[in-house]
Amino acid sequence: MVPQENSQPLAVSCECRNIEKLKSEWRYSGINVEQSKHTFFNFEVWNKASERLKDTAAAYCTNFDEIKDKRRNSILLCGQVGSGKTHVSVAIALYFLKQRIKVVYMPYRDVITKIKQNMIDQEYYGKMISKYKLCEVLLIDDLFKGKINESDLNIMFEIINYRYLNFLPIIVSSEFSINRLLAFDEGVGSRIYEMSKDYVVEIEKDIGNNYRLK
Ligand SMILES: Nc1ncnc2c1ncn2[C@@H]1O[C@H](COP(=O)(O)OP(=O)(O)OP(=O)(O)O)[C@@H](O)[C@H]1O
Ligand SMILES: [Mg+2]
Repeated sequence: MVPQENSQPLAVSCECRNIEKLKSEWRYSGINVEQSKHTFFNFEVWNKASERLKDTAAAYCTNFDEIKDKRRNSILLCGQVGSGKTHVSVAIALYFLKQRIKVVYMPYRDVITKIKQNMIDQEYYGKMISKYKLCEVLLIDDLFKGKINESDLNIMFEIINYRYLNFLPIIVSSEFSINRLLAFDEGVGSRIYEMSKDYVVEIEKDIGNNYRLK
């Protein structure tokens, strides 16, 4: 029989391995978790939009433990290009990873392209998509960036609907307004909105909100 005291370290090391594997997946997507500049510390409050982004994200982090299993357990940052949506989304994820909350990073355009390339292989497709359906927290970065068609919407519906039905949190960044997200696909858009209702920031389309041009 395995002694009681041995089971704990085994569980911890398994947990550590999972986190390390996740971090290497993040690195593969171009973000070094330990060295990323996309932190709260580096996020400057320089206008109303950045203030709303930071405050909403900070409140989300603070309340996460309490809301994580509830209907409204997600956050949506959308609108103006270059306003810091990705920066703040990643900052939330890095904060979570530090607390061993397993966040999977889904750079929308890259991932959707790869999933579509593998759609014929049902087994591989199922495996790929299940990573985004099942993970503890999913960060969808730049949702609906680029040209979108029917299969993009179907794939996103499969992922979002699964997470919606199972109360699994999402962090979403998108350059589109809430109305545009709804117009792309009401099924996907309204689920994201309902899940994120308490933590939505829609940044006005105004070139003055683009940090890249500051
Ligand atoms: N308030 C800020 N403080 C410090 N850096 C910022 C701030 N806002 C944006 N940046 C930096 O500006 C660049 C653009 O920000 P980011 O990529 O987060 O914008 P975005 O809203 O996601 O844009 P897009 O819609 O094009 O995806 C990044 O390098 C980011 O780190
Ligand atoms: Mg972005």
